[in-house]
Amino acid sequence: MNEGEQLCEAAKNGDSDKVRALIESGADVTHFDADGLSPLMHAAKLGHAELLKILLSAGAPWNALSPSNLSAGDFAMEAAHQEAFEVLLNAGIQAELVLGTIARKESKNANFEQDYLEDRVSFSEDKLMDSDSKAVMMAWEKPLMEAHAKAVCSGGGHILNIGFGMGLVDTAIQQYAPVTHTIVEAHPEVYERMLRTGWGEKENVKIIFGRWQDVLAQLETYDGIFFDTYGEYYEDLREFHQHLPTLLKPGGIYSFFNGLCGGNAFFHVVYCHLVSLELENLGYSTQLIPLPVKDCLGGEVWEGVKHKYWQLNTYYLPVCQSMEDTE
Ligand SMILES: C[S@@+](CC[C@H](N)C(=O)[O-])C[C@H]1O[C@@H](n2cnc3c(N)ncnc32)[C@H](O)[C@@H]1O
Repeated sequence: MNEGEQLCEAAKNGDSDKVRALIESGADVTHFDADGLSPLMHAAKLGHAELLKILLSAGAPWNALSPSNLSAGDFAMEAAHQEAFEVLLNAGIQAELVLGTIARKESKNANFEQDYLEDRVSFSEDKLMDSDSKAVMMAWEKPLMEAHAKAVCSGGGHILNIGFGMGLVDTAIQQYAPVTHTIVEAHPEVYERMLRTGWGEKENVKIIFGRWQDVLAQLETYDGIFFDTYGEYYEDLREFHQHLPTLLKPGGIYSFFNGLCGGNAFFHVVYCHLVSLELENLGYSTQLIPLPVKDCLGGEVWEGVKHKYWQLNTYYLPVCQSMEDTE
């Protein structure tokens, strides 16, 4: 048995002394055993918090995935090992806070959004797709969009929505008859369709065509703001948040589509914490309201769609408010 295998065995047995000794002699903490599991995953399954700390400080990656796409955090979460879960959650948040700095720099070179905005999109009854058969927006999200609309319209007044897509959230916002309803949309074909379907003639609606980054000067202040774009990165969402203090009125409500890492339950928890933490640093408290979505997602929903961007049973709808208002 090589040292990596021995490390997995020792972790499986919860033998911290052996794990320490093997690490000291240079055993590979990133090793995967024949089942595709790492020492960290074995420690997480056992709920051995101390062992997790030893492995993490020796450089074991918190976000490695098993063949069934589960991370150590998923194993701890599944087995309800609270302490182990928290150790891994903190490791994930710390790593992303640091690595986020790198992602921030790299994303500046990415042109996924630019390609999307220049390509054709196709509309059908139940989805809006990009030219690569990736779903931009899907009808199964309608109840979620209605819940977002309810949250951001709870104080009435002036509402801002970034990203029209299929118009689900905007249709729901209209039902609350806001004083004004501003919609920012960047894709020329989505914009054309908005005009064709009469959105430009609604009395309280103002459409601003362009990327939100480019039209900030045309925006005012709002009582409710919703953000849901496509082709952007976590960094863009973060950047939008930097503008909240100038866009959101005191007492206003902000919400965004919370699809962060929607393919993995533990990564999603890490990102929910991360975004709440970053909003907190800007002076906003975030409440995450759990909404069951399993019933909206029959197997046929993803037929013909390349990227299954959501695979979790619960959606956590963020409701953000200035901490001054909630005190
Ligand atoms: C996921 S869809 C929005 C779905 C919408 N919430 C609904 O209820 O149907 C994202 C939309 O954002 C638009 N978009 C992408 N990048 C944008 C940007 N930087 N500024 C404004 N809109 C953008 C896309 O063209 C697309 O229409």
